[in-house]
Amino acid sequence: MPDPRASAEASGTRRATPDGGPASGGRVAWVGLAAGAPAADRVIDVDGRAVVPSFVDSHTHLAFAGDRASEFTARMAGAPYDGGGIASTVAATRGSSAEALRARLAAFVAEARAQGTGTIEIKSGYGLTVVDEVRLLQLAREVTSETTFLGAHVVPTEYAGRADDYVDLVTGSMLAECAPHARWIDVFCEPGSPHAFDGDQARAVLVAGRRAGLGLRVHAGQLGPGPGVRLGVELGAAAVDHCTHLTDADLDALAGSDTVATLLPGVEFSTRSPYPDARALLDAGVRVALATDCNPGTSFTSSMPLCIALAVREMHMTPAEALWAATAGGALALRRDDVGHLGVGAHADLTVLEAPSHEHLAYRPGVPLARTMALVT
Ligand code: NIG
Ligand code: FE
Repeated sequence: MPDPRASAEASGTRRATPDGGPASGGRVAWVGLAAGAPAADRVIDVDGRAVVPSFVDSHTHLAFAGDRASEFTARMAGAPYDGGGIASTVAATRGSSAEALRARLAAFVAEARAQGTGTIEIKSGYGLTVVDEVRLLQLAREVTSETTFLGAHVVPTEYAGRADDYVDLVTGSMLAECAPHARWIDVFCEPGSPHAFDGDQARAVLVAGRRAGLGLRVHAGQLGPGPGVRLGVELGAAAVDHCTHLTDADLDALAGSDTVATLLPGVEFSTRSPYPDARALLDAGVRVALATDCNPGTSFTSSMPLCIALAVREMHMTPAEALWAATAGGALALRRDDVGHLGVGAHADLTVLEAPSHEHLAYRPGVPLARTMALVT
C-alpha cells in the first residue's frame, strides 16, 4: 500500500483533461522521507496530515435523470431490489435534455472530486436505444476517458419478453454506434432476474464487445450466484463487479486470474443485502477493488471514503487493505498503471486527509476528511 508518511514532489503543468483528477497534471518525480528530498521549486508543508493517492472509482452510473428515493424507502421497510426500478430511470433519462444531463453529471463529478476521487469510470445504461446510449456515452466522455457501454443493463420495456432480440440490437447497431465513445463494455449478468441477462446472453454481449475493441467488465453475483464471475474470468475481463454472492468455483477462478473483484459496499448498505465476503477473496489472493457504483437505484453515494469505512466495518478489511482497494485496486480494475499510487511517474493526483493517517477514513466515518490538492498552480 502507499506509505501515507511519504512525501512527494511533483513537476509538470496542470492537466487540461478532467479525468486525471483535481490535483494537478504533474507527475510524481520523487518519493521518500522529507529529510532526503531534492531541492524543489515550491515546498508545501501539510503539517503532519496524511497524503494518499486520489481514489480511483472504477464503477459508476452517473449519467441519468431523476432519482428513486421512494424505492429506497420501500426497501428500508423490507421490499427487495430486483432491478425493476431501472426502467423508471431509463424513462426519466430519455426524457431529459442533453443540457440537463450534462449539468447533473458535472455536479456528480464535482461531488466525487470534493471527496478525494481523482479517476472515475462512468457507464451508460439508462438510454437503451441506439441514440440514447450514444448520447450518454458522449456526455460521459466529456468528463472522463473511462467510459463503459452498458446497453445490456436491462431489457427495456419495449423489448419485454424479447430479450434475445434486444441482445441482437445491443451486439449489432448499438455496439457499432457506441464503441467509438467507449473504452469498456459491461453487462448485467443475473439469470435469476427477469430484467437482466443470462450467461449465454452475457457471453454474446462480451464477445461482441471484445471484437469491437472494447475491454470487458461484468456486473456479476449481485442478486444471487450465477455464471457471470466465471464468464468474466474466462473471457479475460478486467473486473467482475458486485461479487455479493460467490461460489467456491468463482473464488477459485478469480484466484488464478488477472480479473479484479470489485466490491461495492454502498449497494449492500442501500439494499440491506449481506456484504460480500471480502476476507475470502483477499485470503485467496484475489485482487480486490472498492468502488461506489453511484446510481439512483442501489447506491446513491459518490463517496469513496464511505465505501472504505463500510469495507472496514462490515467486510473486515483492514484500513490499509481498504485504502489499497480504493486506489491501486481501482486502477488495476481499469488496467491503469498511472493512477492509484504515488510511485515515480504516476499522475500527481494527491488527496490530503484532515487526519494523521489513512486509518481515520474508517475511524471517522461521515467526516469530510479527504481533500484533493493542486500541487502545481
Ligand atoms: O450496479 N444492477 C445493475 N445496475 C446497477 C443498479 C442500477 C439501478 O438500479 O438503477 C447496480 O447495482
Ligand atoms: Fe453498477
